[in-house]
Amino acid sequence: MLPEIKKLVAELKPYKKTIAIVAVTGIAYALAAAKFAFLTKSLFDALSGSKHDEIMNLVPLALGLALVMAVGRYYHIYLMNYVAECVVQNIRQKLQQKFMSLNLSFHNNYHAGSGGLISRILNDIRTIQDGLRVVADIFLHPLLLIALITNLFRIDWKLTLGTMVAVPFIAAILKSISRSMRKYIPQERDALEYMTSTIKESLDGVRIIQSFNLEKDMAKRLIDDSNKYLDIRKTIYKRQEAAGPATEFIATIILLSVLLYTSFEVAAGRATPGTFIGFLTSLLMINQPIKRVQEAYVRIQEVTISVQRIFSIIEDPSEVPQSPLNKPFPKNWKKITYRNVSFSYGKDMILKNINLEINRGEVVALVGASGSGKSTIVNLLERFFDATSGEILIDDINILDLNLKDLRRNVALVTQDVFLFSDTIEKNIWAGDYNRNRADVLAMAKLANAHDFIMKMPQGYESRVGDRGNLLSGGEKQRISIARAMFKDAPLLILDEATSALDTASEIEVQKGLDHLMEGRTALVIAHRLSTIQKADKIVVLKNGEIVEVGNHTHLLGQQGEYFRFHSLQHT
Ligand SMILES: Nc1ncnc2c1ncn2[C@@H]1O[C@H](COP(=O)(O)OP(=O)(O)OP(=O)(O)O)[C@@H](O)[C@H]1O
Ligand SMILES: [Mg+2]
Repeated sequence: MLPEIKKLVAELKPYKKTIAIVAVTGIAYALAAAKFAFLTKSLFDALSGSKHDEIMNLVPLALGLALVMAVGRYYHIYLMNYVAECVVQNIRQKLQQKFMSLNLSFHNNYHAGSGGLISRILNDIRTIQDGLRVVADIFLHPLLLIALITNLFRIDWKLTLGTMVAVPFIAAILKSISRSMRKYIPQERDALEYMTSTIKESLDGVRIIQSFNLEKDMAKRLIDDSNKYLDIRKTIYKRQEAAGPATEFIATIILLSVLLYTSFEVAAGRATPGTFIGFLTSLLMINQPIKRVQEAYVRIQEVTISVQRIFSIIEDPSEVPQSPLNKPFPKNWKKITYRNVSFSYGKDMILKNINLEINRGEVVALVGASGSGKSTIVNLLERFFDATSGEILIDDINILDLNLKDLRRNVALVTQDVFLFSDTIEKNIWAGDYNRNRADVLAMAKLANAHDFIMKMPQGYESRVGDRGNLLSGGEKQRISIARAMFKDAPLLILDEATSALDTASEIEVQKGLDHLMEGRTALVIAHRLSTIQKADKIVVLKNGEIVEVGNHTHLLGQQGEYFRFHSLQHT
């Protein structure tokens, strides 16, 4: 069995009882339909012999068979559709969870961006869903095919053998389709990913697009993507749809030959007209299962490719590796140590041999030119990325050995690029910790100097912030994100340009709140404005990924080095 099919079978396992019903109803339908087809021979013979009694005897049986077919078919299709929905729901959930656990390198480097991943979760899953419905046919149509062929053999085995010359032709057609599917479907999927990605960027970047008059460019990008997609689709349709008419054409030739042959036989008195009708009915009915088996065959190719694409992500190892040691974050920790930490995203070393000690309760400020590696240093602490070499220790425990959730629980982060959920202000500050008191939301919003502007909004804390918080100003968003970090109440606070979007008056207010918050906590503060870092216990000056100076404000000013230079630039 193909590994992809194995994976799909594993997904189907929880529904094996329902699938058993699907199988039984499918088998019942197939047998009833074949029997029904066979019955036409007897019916017709009785009819031509004017044997009324015999017809009266056959009618209830025919009715019974029709009932079995109707009920069987209904449950067969209904239940398989239901199972298909359940299975893809599970896969969708797995995939979303996987997206959230993949490390940032994976996300940043994914070729078709987040739009591409969205395409996988929508389009590939859709293919699987559609394909699974066809799986139901596996119980029904091959069996029906076999039953109908049996009918044919029973009626005239020589003739049936004659019709079998078509089999190799049909097999060859199927094989060629499968080959081209395997080639073109992955290309089609990739094209679809790029299309989705362009659409997503057209939405996410709408403001910049309008401001830079990029509508045409974006439209062209989508047209280019779509044309590529269309080309591939065209090829796929060409191959895929050729199969149906080709097999039908072969079937028609066979049908006509049978017609000719049996008409001679009937005329010569070697066969009854019933034989002729019976044979033809079964032969005509065979068309449908052949078509469905062929369709199922094409679908299975599509499904295996989608399964492969989805599971390549579900099984992607780029998760943040979790140590089996799973140590708890030490409650009474005393210091954090960066020991010989170097880091590279790919080729260039972004951080070079960083050695840094952060004592509990200290406020440590990171200063340095844009791109010097400040955000990278703090990103390593929450393990968004892991150091390329060297280690980060909490007391003497390597953070790699800590339980990841516990580590992150102990850190509250205000990121440089604020992200808010498209929800209410309250929910954004609450950030999932609903065990905590609702009153705290208010208190934290006050500390973050957000309460006043929130109260001015028509629905106060219930106001929705819009997509990514776009109904709020930059400074308002920042204050919500500060309130969210305050609410988290973690011992370690990371503020990456937390107040950069605020005016001086708000900044002073928010700074008061932050000062209050930082009491008794440990904070890593990144700021360009030196006024916010003068009070830090320790100022770390970075240059090109290296620490060039460490000390407090007065000490560093006295050194007349890099920090001094920064300071004088801002005061001239
Ligand atoms: N995901 C990434 N992949 C590759 N390179 C990256 C990535 N993120 C940052 N870099 C590079 O790493 C270097 C340090 O980036 P970092 O974000 O740490 O700078 P920073 O000191 O925080 O700058 P800023 O003050 O502008 O925020 C930069 O040269 C940047 O181009
Ligand atoms: Mg930064």
